[in-house]
Amino acid sequence: MHMSLAIQCTWTPLQMPRLRPPSFGPFLLHSPHTNFFPSFGGIRSRITTYPSFMAAMSTVSTQKEPVLNEDEPTQKTLQPSQVAQRLEKFKTTIFTQMSMLAIKHGAINLGQGFPNFDGPEFVKEAAIEAIKAGKNQYARGYGVPDLNSAISERFKKDTGLVVDPEKEVTVTSGCTEAIAATMLGLINPGDEVIVFAPFYDSYEATLSMAGAKIKCITLRPPNFSVPLDELKSTISKNTRAVLINTPHNPTGKMFTREELNTIASLCIENDVLVFTDEVYDKLAFEMDHISMASLPGMYERTVTLNSLGKTFSLTGWKIGWAIAPPHLTWGVRQAHSFLTFATCTPMQHAAAAALRAPESYYEELKRDYSAKKAILVEGLKAVGFKVYPSSGTYFVVVDHTPFGQENDVAFCEYLITEVGVVAIPTSVFYLNPEDGKNLVRFTFCKDEGTLRSAVERMKEKLLRK
Ligand SMILES: Cc1ncc(COP(=O)(O)O)c(C=O)c1O
Repeated sequence: MHMSLAIQCTWTPLQMPRLRPPSFGPFLLHSPHTNFFPSFGGIRSRITTYPSFMAAMSTVSTQKEPVLNEDEPTQKTLQPSQVAQRLEKFKTTIFTQMSMLAIKHGAINLGQGFPNFDGPEFVKEAAIEAIKAGKNQYARGYGVPDLNSAISERFKKDTGLVVDPEKEVTVTSGCTEAIAATMLGLINPGDEVIVFAPFYDSYEATLSMAGAKIKCITLRPPNFSVPLDELKSTISKNTRAVLINTPHNPTGKMFTREELNTIASLCIENDVLVFTDEVYDKLAFEMDHISMASLPGMYERTVTLNSLGKTFSLTGWKIGWAIAPPHLTWGVRQAHSFLTFATCTPMQHAAAAALRAPESYYEELKRDYSAKKAILVEGLKAVGFKVYPSSGTYFVVVDHTPFGQENDVAFCEYLITEVGVVAIPTSVFYLNPEDGKNLVRFTFCKDEGTLRSAVERMKEKLLRK
């Protein structure tokens, strides 16, 4: 198959598109929102000169574009980019692209949400010990027993719920895989799933892989509250699941008890499942985090998704989990078995040690992040942004319009190239990108010096128009 394609579709070096540095091309290419393109003069010419992102272009160009990894020598046989229809509309993720651009322009990266500091020593030591102790072969598919137990102990402390580590906890490769396993394991083609925009980008892609029909409800500034009447009129007996994320990326919104209660009673009334992504549960600053599973009558219809990355500043470890009653765990595990089967063994042992951290660890984490948040929020206000309240996560969303750029993508381009700071345009988190065009997201998961330097750069160079 591979061979025959290579023969059919060979580009000689002479026929190759000219390679130029990406300028801002890749970032723009990512936008799923082709209606932005006309507003950027010359975008198409930049597209054709930056073929490594051709794969991201399937909705705006023809399918048969050559793909070339920009790090590889140009003396290569180029192949046409191919992607299955269910993924055609998705692009290289914005987070990867922004991080690449940060490096290229020497910009301070307040875009992608990974800490620029390390995770705790005791967790790293536990990983080293596990490796040295020979815990290096395939783990049990649904998790190393000690980690399943640690997850259920933690869940009991957090929610009061007692779950069976053997039957109700599935360890996955990050929350990203837990999300995918949940969608693929529990959603049938054509099932309606309600999501709240803005939303984390993997939701739409995995729902698309599962063949779901997405029903989107938009959360709007300043409070990003759930429009309960709209929810009531959207949910029906045809709804299979509602997907929530609290604390919420990118807005920092935390679902209130009233919102959760309303969602819960609508789900019970209509026999609907809830998938709840709680990866930022330990970064709740302004109010207590409430787990949907802990509400009366909800555990039996809820899949709770979480991971180690944010809480332990170890985003690269990709240890996640799904907690659900046995009848839902069955579907999640079936998908997980054929996605990754099992997750990195020694890191699972270390994750068990992490989750048994004393409460003081979590308190200190919150204190540290509160200080970082204050630096960024006060700084952004001083720069002249309208900063929306963020109750949780390590993100804050601002209105960039005082600076006169026509939309969030243009603003982020300007911010990187002229100011040297990276933010994330929020339109990529919406089904309708227009809804996010005035908003950009900054992260404060960086050391205090970095946050202060970014604020200083913006104070010096960002001019109101
Ligand atoms: C809301 C949300 N869910 C899930 C994830 C993915 O988590 P993991 O790195 O554990 O796969 C992220 C990462 O940024 C996120 O923001």
